[in-house]
Amino acid sequence: MIKNPRRYHITTFGCQMNKADSERMAGILEEMGFQYSEDPNNADLILFNTCTIRENAEQKVYSYLGRQAERKRRQPDLTLIVAGCVAQQEGEALLRRVPELDLIIGPQHANRLKDLLEQVFEGNQVVATEPIHIIEDITKPRRESKVTAWVNVIYGCNERCTYCVVPFVRGREQSRTPEAIRAEMEELGRQGYKEVTLLGQNIDAYGRDLPGVTPEGRHLHTFTDLLYFVHDVAGIERIRFATSHPRYFTERLIRACAELPKVCEHFHIPFQSGDNDILKAMGRGYTQEKYRRIIEKIRSYMPDASLSTDVIVGFPGETEEQFENTLRLVEDIGFDLVNTAAYSPRPGTPAALWENQISDEVKADRLQRLNDLVKKKAAERSQRYMGRIEEILVEDCNPKDPTQVMGRTRGNRLTFFKGDINVLRGEIVAVKITEVRPFSLNAQMVER
Ligand code: SAH
Ligand code: SF4
Ligand code: F3S
Repeated sequence: MIKNPRRYHITTFGCQMNKADSERMAGILEEMGFQYSEDPNNADLILFNTCTIRENAEQKVYSYLGRQAERKRRQPDLTLIVAGCVAQQEGEALLRRVPELDLIIGPQHANRLKDLLEQVFEGNQVVATEPIHIIEDITKPRRESKVTAWVNVIYGCNERCTYCVVPFVRGREQSRTPEAIRAEMEELGRQGYKEVTLLGQNIDAYGRDLPGVTPEGRHLHTFTDLLYFVHDVAGIERIRFATSHPRYFTERLIRACAELPKVCEHFHIPFQSGDNDILKAMGRGYTQEKYRRIIEKIRSYMPDASLSTDVIVGFPGETEEQFENTLRLVEDIGFDLVNTAAYSPRPGTPAALWENQISDEVKADRLQRLNDLVKKKAAERSQRYMGRIEEILVEDCNPKDPTQVMGRTRGNRLTFFKGDINVLRGEIVAVKITEVRPFSLNAQMVER
């Protein structure tokens, strides 16, 4: 028998997709009568939503799991679940490694959590990792924020970047229909949400798998069309999206962003390497020249657009000169934010098998040099905010100073200023920027 009230805790690793999946799984658990427990050690059901993008992400999962498996040996009615990308990658092998597990559930099965748990409560150990058509989400997610929300638009990835596990763990691309996306946004608007971030691993692929072509032979539903279709949803004041792929990024999309007032002037476009031979070995399908042209185009429409990106250093075979090409691109473009990582060989990916791997020392050295440059450039980019009037959507209070609230500029820069969160949460406030740091700003409210 299951005791009442049952309490759950979810620990989420990894990217925004996983965060969005966790919110939906939390919604399902609450519908089943579970209550949220802040402390995992007081929970009767523990769910790890896992990431395997790099080896250290995967290792972190095993160390957390070890502790809860140990607890389960003392408390057999504890339900232990591994979801997300490690679940998908390892499948049944995880059961051999951690026999205490009750349920292993791949990302495509997240919306089926209730059915699968019912099988667990009948006394089964369950593994759900086979590829399926993702069922439309009919539950209400338990969202972490009351102001900003994730909305998935496309699941999976059909690219084959030679370093990346995502296509293996997230499966084929599956677009949600424009109607389902709009309906979710309308519901969010009714609930008082102000900002939506549309999510896809390769958002520019949106709609390719949906039926229909235009008379010119274009897909009927592209991501750009989706933006036009959803931009006027009542209550939603800001729309963001991620992640863009330089291979498919279009001028039409840039124009839409410039034209549609709710779409924020912020672009997250990973370039991964500034060297054409490395880009080729990565299978990325563009050159650094093409990447630069995209950025120029964006800036010709929106001179102040903020830009963020992801970069990998120490990809197999990367020479010092090739690495310097990456540094040069970071130097020339001036990003607001760069997520950097040392290349990590991943199971099942082609590059992991190549013999020209780079030593850990060289990777660490390059990562350090890149990070130093990133910080210097971000500090330079921050300067342009000094003294400016910016619109901030207030999300929460500053956890380090409760007399301050925090929110983001349209360009996605975290900003702090004095104010009462109970009055300001969810409001868009005009502030004057008074202090700049590389990755955040201080400000004062101004009268409009
Ligand atoms: N879909 C996005 C990226 C998803 S993964 C895109 O196409 O850009 C997030 C980031 O993790 C990637 O941009 C990449 O910089 C990094 N990453 C992916 N695989 C990696 C690996 N094997 N080693 C190091 N970093 C990796
Ligand atoms: Fe990975 Fe490439 Fe797909 Fe991004 S586009 S998720 S890097 S395979
Ligand atoms: Fe990690 Fe899976 Fe996202 S591997 S980065 S959680 S898609």
